[in-house]
Amino acid sequence: MVRKWSFRVLSVLSVMIALYGFAFMFLPDDVVPEAIRDRFTTYPFAGYGHVIGGGLALLLGPIQFSPWLRRKHMAWHRWLGRMYALAVIWAGLAGLFLSQLTFGGFAGQTGFAALAILWLVSIAFAWIRIRQGNKGSHRMWMIRNFSLTLAAVSLRILLPVLTGAMGMEFEAAYTAIAWLCWVPNLIIAEWMILTRK
Ligand code: HEM
Repeated sequence: MVRKWSFRVLSVLSVMIALYGFAFMFLPDDVVPEAIRDRFTTYPFAGYGHVIGGGLALLLGPIQFSPWLRRKHMAWHRWLGRMYALAVIWAGLAGLFLSQLTFGGFAGQTGFAALAILWLVSIAFAWIRIRQGNKGSHRMWMIRNFSLTLAAVSLRILLPVLTGAMGMEFEAAYTAIAWLCWVPNLIIAEWMILTRK
């Protein structure tokens, strides 16, 4: 019951952040960090790729976990899965590139780079496992992968908490979040896998 409701809340947050991602390039300057948008427009293939691919992954991820879809419409699950994987590959490669330009020097850059690499590696494992017909292992890798997709949600929850409630400076907060946005997610994903009935 708790898991079901947590998943519903996360799905709603995913859709909200996906819409934020799609709108990112068009939002007013007082809403988005100017330095980031400048980087995204200087490298449009990476910038647009990141927000469009990332937004798509956030929209498709929750749908893919629906048991109803897998039971009744397996063909849809396969096609949406391929779209999800392509979105992750595009946004992940773009994220890896953008990680080298972000705030916080080595600490911030390695945090986002590690996230991008794990995101790409986990989707590759999920793909390989399903090609081998190993559904159990495919599911485990997708739980890990989607927990990393949700880093985009954690980031936007943590940013106002660290800068607003805790009074940290924007760049210092962003650097800490380069790790905080995904390490706890992955720990929760491992716990979910281990305690799955
Ligand atoms: C999970 C792997 C991800 C990695 C490695 C990653 C990496 C990054 C990096 C490095 C930045 C900062 C760029 C800079 O400082 O110029 C950034 C910002 C951003 N990312 Fe991602 N990201 C990921 C997932 C996502 C997803 C799933 C979305 C979906 C919407 C997304 C949307 C954005 C947006 C809109 C920004 C702009 C900054 C902001 O709003 O704070 N990212 N990402």
